Amino acid sequence: MKKFRAKAHSNIALIKYWGKENEEFIIPKNSSLSLTLDALYTETEVSFIEDENDGDIFYLDGELQDEGQHIKLSKYIDIFRELSGVKKSVLVNSYNHVPTAAGLASSASGFAALAMALNKLFNLNYSNEEITKLARRGSGSASRSIFGGFVEWVKGDKHENSYARKIDDAQWDIAMIILVLKNEKKEISSRVAMKQTIETSPLYNAHVESCEEDLENIKQAIKNRDFTTLGKIAEHNAMRMHATMLSSNPPIIYFKEDSIRAIEKVQSMRAKGHEIYYTMDAGPNVKILCRKSETQSIVEELKKEFDESKIIISDIGGDATVKEIE
Ligand code: PMV
Repeated sequence: MKKFRAKAHSNIALIKYWGKENEEFIIPKNSSLSLTLDALYTETEVSFIEDENDGDIFYLDGELQDEGQHIKLSKYIDIFRELSGVKKSVLVNSYNHVPTAAGLASSASGFAALAMALNKLFNLNYSNEEITKLARRGSGSASRSIFGGFVEWVKGDKHENSYARKIDDAQWDIAMIILVLKNEKKEISSRVAMKQTIETSPLYNAHVESCEEDLENIKQAIKNRDFTTLGKIAEHNAMRMHATMLSSNPPIIYFKEDSIRAIEKVQSMRAKGHEIYYTMDAGPNVKILCRKSETQSIVEELKKEFDESKIIISDIGGDATVKEIE
């Protein structure tokens, strides 16, 4: 029985994806751009189940998942069954590798690894660029986790032309530090939050329009290896995305006290000469973009304010991979 293992890294968007044009196919309102992270990744093993009537089986970090998760997964695997004409059930064993606990397990690396593995298992032999479209169907941001470095998700307007591509392998003086911050409350899912933002925020359309310009400018900054421009665009883009959420009705607030404390820390460190920029997603964690060569001195300073166990340092991650095992 053939068995495949895939590995995909998480990614953090510098130009954010926030909102769908098409919910079923996950076609976004705007193109986005991210940085793939080496420190956070998912490994996923897949094999067929002998008796096809058994249904798919899904373990995450060694734990059999509940019915809701199984339904979601089976619906996703159906895409591959349809494409290949192979109707077999699949055993999925997935492991999230996250250095510290707390809300960093990512759907991006998860669906990217799964798409890579299923592509092999169902013998579809699609190119990585083609696989980005299949990863996208699981979770939009997963499309960008098929590649390492700086990755653009070109929005397109249908399944066939909404895909991700590598812009630059980011093997220059750049790294990311993640502050894992406390969160007692279960967050509103990004799917629900995006919909609410589109439907109720008066700022949303202006934000989407500005993303086009941000994207062009950040791509130019990447080309020029201009860290300053890159950081400034990313920071502004993230806060503008959060402004659309804050201005939706009812408001969506992912900031926690510690998120604000972290942002203020970044600002005060910057005033003292550390060139660092922050970004935030659909949760309280703050991600800090920095020069790789300055990581240690930045972490030393952050440790004065935040517990060492809450600080994750990450290099740039590479492309997703897959191989046959056993
Ligand atoms: O792919 P999703 O549905 O998990 O949405 C990701 C949304 C953000 O992380 C906030 C932005 C992004 O582009 O990754």
